[in-house]
Amino acid sequence: MLSELAYDQFGESNTGIPLVLVHGFPLDRTIFAPVAPRLASSGLRVLTVDLPGFGGSAFPGDFSLEDLARRLRGFLTQQGLTPFFLGGLSMGGYVALQYHRLFPADLTGLVLIDTKSSDDTAEAKENRNRMAEVARREGSKPVARMMFTKMLGETTRKSPGGPAIEQRLMDIMEHCPAGTIASACIAMRDRADFTPDLHRSDVPLLMLTGAEDVIAPPAVGREVASAARRGTFVEIPGAGHIATMEQPERVAAAITAWRRSL
Ligand code: MLT
Repeated sequence: MLSELAYDQFGESNTGIPLVLVHGFPLDRTIFAPVAPRLASSGLRVLTVDLPGFGGSAFPGDFSLEDLARRLRGFLTQQGLTPFFLGGLSMGGYVALQYHRLFPADLTGLVLIDTKSSDDTAEAKENRNRMAEVARREGSKPVARMMFTKMLGETTRKSPGGPAIEQRLMDIMEHCPAGTIASACIAMRDRADFTPDLHRSDVPLLMLTGAEDVIAPPAVGREVASAARRGTFVEIPGAGHIATMEQPERVAAAITAWRRSL
């Protein structure tokens, strides 16, 4: 399997331990474009990566979460990046938690955004199967429409910049290939409950949750942080599920403050 993945780099390469950011579903690395330069200006080197099949990274055939974590590791090792902070938004958080399960020694810290550590309920698994089927039968657009209603908070939707964010998000989702969507649904359906790993781990964890996130709400984020031995929870006001696009300044400030506190 090729380990080349599409990525963007922000900041200098000689500025200490980097932060690698992994996007959610059915998205790509550009959801971090508003946040990464802000983090870089605080002295952090940031790498935003497209998972296999998403954005500019080629689809490798059907994958599991473990395949994604191993592929990410191959790529980051090739880049000479370890150790690093690993961050993920939503599905990217599942990949980060899977990576943490497999390779905790690579990680200086975990930054989880709008995500959860638990596995899917029986009902959620059924929904994954349905969404995979819709993607296979009808393509990406109906899936984009299904996801769209839950992605952004009301504050964003009503703000002057809201329509541009909505348009950008819809474009990203509609361009996600249907095969990638179907495979990701099954990979997320079959993911483990990562909560027990957090009880055992000494890796510092920052959990950020948009106050208006309806997919992984603040109560869930609080539980993730309190499951971790070294967990910190920060609620991001005015954000829904894609806090990095909705409130990039607040997200960058929370990550910077946490990193400096370590
Ligand atoms: C995501 O944003 O990555 C997805 O909403 C995650 C999920 O569906 O569990």
